[in-house]
Amino acid sequence: MPEEWPASDRMSLVIKQEVFMDIFAYRIMPVIQIEDAADAQPLGEALMAGGLPVAEVTFRTDAAAESIAIMNDIEGFTVGAGTVITPSQVELAIEAGAKFLVSPGLRTDVVREAQLAGRPIIPGAVTPGEIMSAQALGIDTVKFFPAKVFGGPAAISTLAAAFTTMKFIPTGGIDGSTMPDYLKLSCVPAVAGSWVALPHLIAAKDFAAVTAACREALSQVAALA
Ligand code: 3PG
Repeated sequence: MPEEWPASDRMSLVIKQEVFMDIFAYRIMPVIQIEDAADAQPLGEALMAGGLPVAEVTFRTDAAAESIAIMNDIEGFTVGAGTVITPSQVELAIEAGAKFLVSPGLRTDVVREAQLAGRPIIPGAVTPGEIMSAQALGIDTVKFFPAKVFGGPAAISTLAAAFTTMKFIPTGGIDGSTMPDYLKLSCVPAVAGSWVALPHLIAAKDFAAVTAACREALSQVAALA
């Protein structure tokens, strides 16, 4: 974070970033696109039943804010907002109850808005320049998106050799077949993706299939240990 920020401000950001450690303990962040807010409750419960009491609800639909509010009321569930691309969406997401924010790219005003509100944010960064800009804003964890298109695990490990303290959350095009190669990297605390809660399963209200997909993914994670 900028050195001119007051020490108290800097300390509070460090504490807020620690939220990530809890979230990433599962090593998988479900990325959820909800078209109908009525699905938020059963979906949150299905994720919990599958062992993943955490989700990033993307601001790609009109139901996002209401869905975040509903999931935020599920006891033991941690909900964040994804695809946050403007400062006003940061505000909207926090009002709805988002505990963390994820952005596909790096915008100083979006990062600053989240930091001033005391919410941890993971902005997207895939190039050395973007990573350096993120570091200058006090960011220690970036979203590497779209991971598959931008070179996958090989690209991340090459970047991590230069940016030794940066953590990467790969997202985009990841599924059970590619997840292990990302999670084997020490700079990758977790991967994120929609494959554990596919949009067509949500649309079909097949929440049992979501629970099964989460369990399957977590058993793969356990096998890596
Ligand atoms: C995101 O916003 O994080 C990605 O669109 C999720 O990518 P996926 O659907 O390929 O998992």
